[in-house]
Amino acid sequence: MIDEKPLLSVLHGRKTAIPPLWLMRQAGRYLPEYREIRAKASSFLEFCYSPAAAEATLQPVRRFGFDAAILFSDILVIPDALGQRVSFESGEGPRLEPLETPDDFSRLSGTVDLGRLAPVFETIDRVKGALPSQCAFIGFCGAPWTVASYMVAGQGTSDQAPARLFAYRHPEAFAGLIDRLAEASISYLLGQIDAGVEVVQIFDSWAGVLPVHEFENWVFSPVRKIVSRIKAERPGTPVIAFVRGAGTHLTQLVESLGADAYGLDTAADPLWAVRETAGRAALQGNLDPLALLAGGAALDREAAAILRAFEGHPHIFNLGHGILPQTPIAHVERLVALVRQHGS
Ligand code: CP3
Repeated sequence: MIDEKPLLSVLHGRKTAIPPLWLMRQAGRYLPEYREIRAKASSFLEFCYSPAAAEATLQPVRRFGFDAAILFSDILVIPDALGQRVSFESGEGPRLEPLETPDDFSRLSGTVDLGRLAPVFETIDRVKGALPSQCAFIGFCGAPWTVASYMVAGQGTSDQAPARLFAYRHPEAFAGLIDRLAEASISYLLGQIDAGVEVVQIFDSWAGVLPVHEFENWVFSPVRKIVSRIKAERPGTPVIAFVRGAGTHLTQLVESLGADAYGLDTAADPLWAVRETAGRAALQGNLDPLALLAGGAALDREAAAILRAFEGHPHIFNLGHGILPQTPIAHVERLVALVRQHGS
């Protein structure tokens, strides 16, 4: 037990004096060594499917000594493996062939092509032997609603209006897409676990734009299905659910989703979340990525407030959303020092 990795300890419900630390989107453009290897690839997806993805996974762990590595890939490899064309325009984000009518769904395959995702499993195999002994390995997928919102719009939007409209106009077709994505995510996560990840995180980055009934249909039900299948088929693997914008739905999520930990977004009040969930699940989060970018007194104050709020509760220190590309390396180093000095 003493040798257990700190992140796994917390996911098993134990409190640690110093919380394990990793950052969402910790591999990526704020790192000069990432920009250097990324510049050699012709496209972002090609990069995700190449051996360089293993190197990108390891870079932040080597530099900062984080307690977890997160697989370097993207949530949009699932639409790619379902036969939707996906590309990434530099500086503009993802572009997909939009799904405008229920008929457009028929262009997609019914099941995910795991052969197309084989390079991701190879990345996992390459990384797992290279991790320091205290460092846990996290795999991930996007939740069906978040992935569907990009598939329908064909790009990022500020409010996911295209997918929300589609779901109101064609609820049965949309339910079919959500179902297909849930099944694809289950196969993909099981493949990641079998290849060697020790934990999986489900990113529902766009849950916060939905009214309550739609939240039930498109967030709660499919994510619960994914968690319960992972728990049934690979019972030893902890699951982290990051439902951004869950707000007061957190209580219901913790009562019935069945995950081992819940990620809190930047706007969540840690003290409220600790009271709501006491003893039932670990919590992850939730430093404002802008406080990390700003650094200085703001970073020190916000990091200290988070460390205090979660004291005595199983806690994984993280951001409330992904690290921003403009974040100075020195601020990340300062954060690592603040978290590691906690309590001493
Ligand atoms: O966390 C990590 O370090 C692992 C890698 C990872 C990436 N994307 C790499 C990436 C993870 C976990 C993701 C998840 C992801 N991708 C989410 C969920 C989390 C969140 O941030 O909300 C979403 C919504 C996406 C979709 C996506 N991929 C967008 C909107 C973009 C463009 C905007 C942006 O943030 O860069 C991407 C591209 C992407 N995914 C990059 C990286 C490093 C940048 C592309 C590049 O380097 O050229």
